Amino acid sequence: MSTPSVSPVPPPATTPRLSARGLVKTFGSTTALAGVDVDLADGESLAIMGPSGSGKSTLLHCLAGILRPDSGTVSLRGRDVAGLNERERSLLRRRHYGFVFQFGQLLSELPAQENVALPPMLLGTPRAQAIALARQWLTALGLAGMEERRPGEMSGGQAQRVAVARALITGPDIVFADEPTGALDQATGAEVMRILTETTRAAGASLVVVTHEESVADWCTRRIEMRDGLVRSGALARTSGTTAVAPPTTLAEPGAYGSRWGVAPGAAPSGVVPGAVGGMGGHR
Ligand SMILES: Nc1ncnc2c1ncn2[C@@H]1O[C@H](COP(=O)(O)OP(=O)(O)OP(=O)(O)O)[C@@H](O)[C@H]1O
Ligand SMILES: [Mg+2]
Repeated sequence: MSTPSVSPVPPPATTPRLSARGLVKTFGSTTALAGVDVDLADGESLAIMGPSGSGKSTLLHCLAGILRPDSGTVSLRGRDVAGLNERERSLLRRRHYGFVFQFGQLLSELPAQENVALPPMLLGTPRAQAIALARQWLTALGLAGMEERRPGEMSGGQAQRVAVARALITGPDIVFADEPTGALDQATGAEVMRILTETTRAAGASLVVVTHEESVADWCTRRIEMRDGLVRSGALARTSGTTAVAPPTTLAEPGAYGSRWGVAPGAAPSGVVPGAVGGMGGHR
């Protein structure tokens, strides 16, 4: 006689937000990725570490649909995206991903607010609405009053905050950052990492950060180590991606953003989709 009432109920299987299997990428005779498996859970922030030339950027580019791997799969919420063509991958990146790079890659001739407004405009949000939303993001990231400044008229840390605003304004599923603090001193880099991790988490996005620096990886909930195109340790996600490692609080300025993100993250301009400005009680 069976005893169904005492059978344990298995936990629901959760699909990772992003999952890569068997990624291979070569450039001529160079094997940049030699068969990489990696998962990224909801709400997780993943640091990709390893020496120069080990394949970190190539992995990030394949995960983010910038590069198409020679073989292997990349699935976004269970849907294979590695095989999409260039146009489809471009659309995928615009709709689902945000990017922060070492030098921000802001357009130098455009004021901060226009740099931040570009992604929603590319998705069809009218210019005035996109600018209003961009101003809210800049305010949320502590850059009120700097909306009209061009990147060259800001400090490196301020410019990277503009880049964070630009990465998050469309409410992406995942933010990809390649050496986001590489051009900054340690204290400024820590501040940018704090803002990047806090705002990404508050916006409900997952985060992938390529870095050489332990102090940068410490802000992430998990890390993997690459060597010669392979993941040496930590490839697959823990069962829950929401177990946050406490960031180094000594580097965080109390109150600078905490009230905004800590108390009422829902009130922050998070998870915003084009056209949602009116619903946010815009103050401009
Ligand atoms: N576009 C390319 N053409 C040719 N070779 C490339 C290209 N991109 C990367 N590679 C090679 O692939 C390997 C991995 O490069 P990748 O840029 O992924 O390394 P990385 O870990 O990001 O290094 P770094 O820390 O210096 O940025 C290296 O040997 C590199 O020279
Ligand atoms: Mg690199």
